[in-house]
Amino acid sequence: MKIALGVTGGVAAYKAAELVRRLQQEKLDVQVVMTRAAQEFITPLMFAALTGQKVITDMFSAAGAAPANLESAIEHIAVAQRIDLLLVAPATADILGRFANGIAEDFLSTLYLATKAPVIVAPAMNVNMWEHAATQENLAKLRARGVHVVDPDEGYLACGMTGAGRLAATETIAREVCDVLGLRHDLAGHTVLVTAGPTCEDLDPVRFLTNRSSGKMGYALAEAARRRGAQVILISGPTELKIPESVDWIPVRTTEEMRRAVLDRAGSASMVIMAAAVSDYRPAAIHDRKLKRGEGHLTLELEATPDILKELSREKRGAILVGFAAETDRVAENAKDKLERKHADMIVANDVTQEGAGFDTDTNIVTMYSRDGREISLPKMDKFEVANRILDRVLEIHKQSK
Ligand code: C5P
Repeated sequence: MKIALGVTGGVAAYKAAELVRRLQQEKLDVQVVMTRAAQEFITPLMFAALTGQKVITDMFSAAGAAPANLESAIEHIAVAQRIDLLLVAPATADILGRFANGIAEDFLSTLYLATKAPVIVAPAMNVNMWEHAATQENLAKLRARGVHVVDPDEGYLACGMTGAGRLAATETIAREVCDVLGLRHDLAGHTVLVTAGPTCEDLDPVRFLTNRSSGKMGYALAEAARRRGAQVILISGPTELKIPESVDWIPVRTTEEMRRAVLDRAGSASMVIMAAAVSDYRPAAIHDRKLKRGEGHLTLELEATPDILKELSREKRGAILVGFAAETDRVAENAKDKLERKHADMIVANDVTQEGAGFDTDTNIVTMYSRDGREISLPKMDKFEVANRILDRVLEIHKQSK
């Protein structure tokens, strides 16, 4: 497979050389594209020597050779069509801004607009630049467009400050590349059932109770599992998300519909991940006519919905069972309690009050609690990356249970 590695102008540019080597170990053909600023930090010769290919350094260097057709004359279009992935590492605040706003004034930013291949950015910059609202808004825009972001690490920065902004480890970036390209096939032979999104509980023909779940975490899990070779069953409450390709997608609305779909399908699954925000209560009666406005208070009677996860664990079908716990307080206690009460193998907990975690965000901050007492806390990361970490852990638990 062929990837374009965009190197932009930051101190971390030197780390891109090591990254090229690491990506080559994955048998990837790497075409390096450098911005003008990157060339102030490291020479194109370095990358040409490592890749054995001409490094693209500006928009117009490609012109000259007699074109076989119009497209090859316009190299950014040709490269854009040839590549399976565009990776930018390190990505400066400047390139993130250009990508986010569609400003195509050099080769790399033009390539971003011209390619239909997936895009990964690994930002690196000074902590204040990283935390600046402009940078964070640009990243949010990119994430919303499906760009994968490998968040920077915290630590000592070249500028002398300490904080977030250090380019993620080469290994982390390489793993994300493999995951996005679907090069990891460690879930081949597994059937993974994922629930996602909210459920809706009708009150009358026009009103219902629901919650803020966007379905993003569950859809990321489904996508990540599929890319790693699993057969995926995605049982989804109503969401705005695109139906993922090559998964068995089952739309449901109410808890009862989700329950029936899960119980029908769980038998074929070796892993069940309940990422849906299932209603815990529903109106005790569904009115067949619209409730009319009256005088004074209206009291609604709610009844508990069936707990799908608990029911599944009671049936002990042998699949690894993972539940989610979206909490606003006492996260660890509630998660451990849920682990026991629901007889799950793992609970993935997040504090939905934290910025960058929980509902309708593109990132999440989670801790995984498992039966063996292990607690693994992950820093804030892209939901797709979180999904892969969860799958890593589920696979580990599956192997231990054999
Ligand atoms: O108890 P709580 O709703 O916080 O538990 C959350 C976990 O339990 C999630 O994994 C969710 O999908 C699952 N759940 C369920 N059936 C319900 C409520 C929650 O399976 N009725």
